[in-house]
Amino acid sequence: MAERSVAAGRGIVVHGAQWGDEGKGKIVDLLTENAHAVVRFQGGNNAGHTLVVGGEKTIVHLIPSGILHPGTACLVGNGVVLDPEVLCREMDMLAAKGVDVSPKRLKISKKTQVIMPYHRLLDGARETLRAGAKIGTTGRGIGPCYEDKMARIGIRAGDFADPELLRAKIETALVEKNALFANLYGLEAVDPAAVFEAVLPVAERLTPHLGDVSTEIQKALGAGGDVLFEGAQGTHLDIDHGTYPFVTSSNTVAGQASAGSGCAPSVLSRIVAVVKAYTTRVGSGPFPTELFGTVGDYLQSQGGEFGATTGRRRRCGWLDLVLLREAARLSGPTEIALTKLDVLSGLFELKLCIGYRYKGKVYEYPPQEENALEHVEPLYETMPGWDEDITGLTAWEDLPLAAREYVSRIEQALGTRCSLLSVGPDRRQTIVRS
Ligand code: GTP
Repeated sequence: MAERSVAAGRGIVVHGAQWGDEGKGKIVDLLTENAHAVVRFQGGNNAGHTLVVGGEKTIVHLIPSGILHPGTACLVGNGVVLDPEVLCREMDMLAAKGVDVSPKRLKISKKTQVIMPYHRLLDGARETLRAGAKIGTTGRGIGPCYEDKMARIGIRAGDFADPELLRAKIETALVEKNALFANLYGLEAVDPAAVFEAVLPVAERLTPHLGDVSTEIQKALGAGGDVLFEGAQGTHLDIDHGTYPFVTSSNTVAGQASAGSGCAPSVLSRIVAVVKAYTTRVGSGPFPTELFGTVGDYLQSQGGEFGATTGRRRRCGWLDLVLLREAARLSGPTEIALTKLDVLSGLFELKLCIGYRYKGKVYEYPPQEENALEHVEPLYETMPGWDEDITGLTAWEDLPLAAREYVSRIEQALGTRCSLLSVGPDRRQTIVRS
């Protein structure tokens, strides 16, 4: 019988429990201190992780957030869709800041799907055709790239090392798309040779970064190091479990860390659900606890709720424990990292959605019908707020009583402890509970 290698290190998944923008970037960056490797396992450059270190802000869309920790390997897994031009620009931006982005540190799985210029074109053409019923995609070609993966006509990063294969695959992928462009969208056909010529220089540049991410993870764990799996977007944007069709094109639940990187689920021993202390959502889709008046505006301005990727204004609302219960059921967090608690300072009272009324019944978990969330009535519990500025606090005991009670109520509802409390964007503005 073949011997199974015993992994000594831990797999730590950091994923969003809401609709994305929970502040995962900061939490990943914090937890990377002790990690040998950080892995992206889904999504593409529709994510935008903001890192603030010593007051300096860095936004990464594709490169794992661990990149600011020298010595940590940054791995792009097979579940990601990679725009090679965006990656090169990001590498240049980081290199200009003195960050090491050499092939030794930054590795791309040969199985990672590649976003091509025609994916972006298709994304934009579709949203235009949808007119009044837009999904609210970021227009970066993410969805069409995943479609090609499933249709088995995707370009994979490993193809960069074989230009003739790359050329042939581009020709194949464009047959159907050119028919669509011409007949449905009224666009000119895309010339496969021109796409190949445009992509070749970046393909050559990225070839030294190609690697076997699955084996890299196994090696890091075997050497006793932690490996951090960095989720993008959030649970309720999951292609299967989210508020379909207003979702992203990948699975965002914690389990995807395994399939999207090539590691066994049994190594994922620590699952950190990142929860923002209130709720936000970008773009279209149902949002039961959305606030339209002054409180919503307050959260938006205090929280700086504009997308790191698109600059779009985020919709804001009260914390929704129904959605969080569902997120916990789907991903089984071992702990919660609660972010942006500081943004709630100054509110006289806080509301938490503890259930939904739908078709005369009360629900603790979201009803599963496709349009149900548009019609539920949120049921609230009210708690006192606090006035104090908490952005300088580093100890749980120093938090105002009302803030501690708010956190405890979340823990009680989800049956999970908040081990990290974030009270500002900087690494230092964090309360770590032992
Ligand atoms: P996606 O993967 O796109 O969902 O991004 P994300 O979850 O990493 O969130 P993102 O970094 O886009 O947004 C979080 C924003 O909040 C950034 O501007 C952070 O600097 C900021 N931030 C993170 N934690 C805190 C916090 O505790 N308080 C405050 N005030 N800002 C925070």
